[in-house]
Amino acid sequence: MLNFTLNIPTKIIFGKGEVNRTGEMVKEYAKKVLLVTGRSSTKKTGSLDKVTKSLQEAGVDYVLFDQVEPNPRAETVDRGGQIARDEKCELILALGGGSAMDAAKAIATVAVSARPIHEYIRGNKTGLWKELLPIKEALPIMTIPTLAATGSEANSTAVITNWETKEKSSIGGPGLFPRVAILDPELTYTVSASYTADGAVDMFTHLYEAYMTGDENANVQDEITEGLMRNAVKYAKTAIDQPEDYNARAHLLWTSTLALIGIANAGRGGSFPVHQIEHTLSAHYDVSHGRGLAVLTPAYFRQIIKKDRPHRLARLGREVFNVTLEDDSAACDATIDALVSWYKEIGTYDSLKNLGVKKEDLKLMAEETIRISGLGKDSIAATHPLTAEEILRMYEEVYES
Ligand code: NZQ
Ligand code: ZN
Repeated sequence: MLNFTLNIPTKIIFGKGEVNRTGEMVKEYAKKVLLVTGRSSTKKTGSLDKVTKSLQEAGVDYVLFDQVEPNPRAETVDRGGQIARDEKCELILALGGGSAMDAAKAIATVAVSARPIHEYIRGNKTGLWKELLPIKEALPIMTIPTLAATGSEANSTAVITNWETKEKSSIGGPGLFPRVAILDPELTYTVSASYTADGAVDMFTHLYEAYMTGDENANVQDEITEGLMRNAVKYAKTAIDQPEDYNARAHLLWTSTLALIGIANAGRGGSFPVHQIEHTLSAHYDVSHGRGLAVLTPAYFRQIIKKDRPHRLARLGREVFNVTLEDDSAACDATIDALVSWYKEIGTYDSLKNLGVKKEDLKLMAEETIRISGLGKDSIAATHPLTAEEILRMYEEVYES
């Protein structure tokens, strides 16, 4: 096991009806907040009313910024930051999915620094990100997730896209840890079957990435990871079939938070290559992040993991999908089959072609992944450094499934 320091400063409040405590929590930090949401769901579902009522009851002023699009864009963040400065907001409160929460973190950053968020995005040609990351200073942040997927509610990461340059990358640093995260599973009842499934794939992928690429002498972390993966698989289908099953929604939400809060990867390290390859895809084609991960994973497992660390993929299959084959190579194939069956069962099995991707863009996307996520090298980190050619072969395998 590797040495590690684990700091999880976010206070987590979990449970039915806890959204009604928003005002009470915010009041400890601010008298006026910028309330950041997506464009429509929080109004349609009533979650926005619950939050604004709670703020009003606590005597907290708010300015609503309801312009965040899925795969949040740099220009939207910059607009939000300007409003937060002009209105002298003291805290950024996010209500929504990963996109609203990530935009809120980025807005909290630019509200203080007054720099365009694009300067923080890795790979951009100015290279300023090398000085600006990790982000230490930002306005206080609070999160209320309405979708179980990213874990953004309690981690110090945000993912932002510069749409003009098609650069999507994570930014992060201690300044981005939310002070408080309110996890009320009832807010996720209204998530569509499709986003529920994509969210389950996202949390599952957060779990397997470092499990495949990290240090192999971290059994505690591996068993935590396997337990969380089993829960993502177990509860996704129930939540899709019975959207108001509290138990299923609660387990999915808590799994998504735990998957990317640092616990499973502490002492294991590891990298997130499938995320980096997917981020290029959603930067170019604006697809749902979880759907992109579902498309790419079978190729990554077949082409990279089965060759580099077959015993890890075989272990995942045995521990999560009840694969019983003793031979690792055969168990790897059975694991990929089981994963694809799960994707099909929850409706996320897809291909790049079906997502609207043009075949002639695959090479460019492979090269862009290296430019943006390679930190100046000609590869991205994985079980071995992955080159643009290897990424292209993965894109090609899943072009038509
Ligand atoms: O935008 P609105 O109108 O709010 O609707 C959203 C959106 O259309 C809707 N939605 C959210 N909650 C709902 C709901 N609809 C009905 N009922 C509810 N309760 O769902 C759609 C998708 O929302 P979005 O926030 O885009 O999804 P998700 O939570 O999957 O977030 C995806 C973003 O997070 C980034 C992704 O790259 C992507 O940009 N990620 C962030 C991470 C982090 N901060 O740690 C890690 C992840 O790996 C990921 O990269
Ligand atoms: Zn993800």
